[in-house]
Amino acid sequence: MDRSKEKIGVLISEPELKKRVKELAQEISSDYEGRDLLLIGVLKGSFVFLADLMRNMDYHVSVDFMGTSSYGDSTKSSGEVRITKDLEKSVAGRHVLLVEDIVDTGLTLRYLLDTLRTRQPASLRVCTLLDKPARRRVRVSLDYYGFIIPNSFVVGYGLDYDEQFRGLPFVGVLEEF
Ligand code: IMP
Ligand code: MG
Repeated sequence: MDRSKEKIGVLISEPELKKRVKELAQEISSDYEGRDLLLIGVLKGSFVFLADLMRNMDYHVSVDFMGTSSYGDSTKSSGEVRITKDLEKSVAGRHVLLVEDIVDTGLTLRYLLDTLRTRQPASLRVCTLLDKPARRRVRVSLDYYGFIIPNSFVVGYGLDYDEQFRGLPFVGVLEEF
């Protein structure tokens, strides 16, 4: 990639992210009041969102991670999903909230939900920072979402293009690259 040609437009600013993440954390906390909650972050994209979400929640919330990768190039999902890192502990009987960076085709989420459901958690819900409904290929219900975004490729706040831009403090659109 020729870095001199990179142009990134801000789609969701740092203050907007901060405000919305705090609201989501409060909503989730009140919904799960009195229950032990396990957040499962989907690597790698969700780690920034998850860290901010968690720091706005009760400190008894626990966390684990799953890694997935979909075969295909970096901007298009092929539909085939595979688990590259599994959970450390059993989720049986636990209240699980799956934390995603973005739901695009929905194929990754569908696969993860199907997989986790067979492990019999007490409950299983989804929280995604971004929802990009334009390219949805399978129906998935999102219990919590931060922002609905248009059909463009976004980076930053954990999301990457070819492993770059994850550290940007805002969500941006790659305009020229
Ligand atoms: P899916 O198409 O819903 O299965 O999305 C799978 C994964 O593709 C997401 O968790 C992201 O890691 C990645 N992805 C989808 N859209 C974007 C985007 O606009 N920017 C960066 N990553 C994306
Ligand atoms: Mg992801």
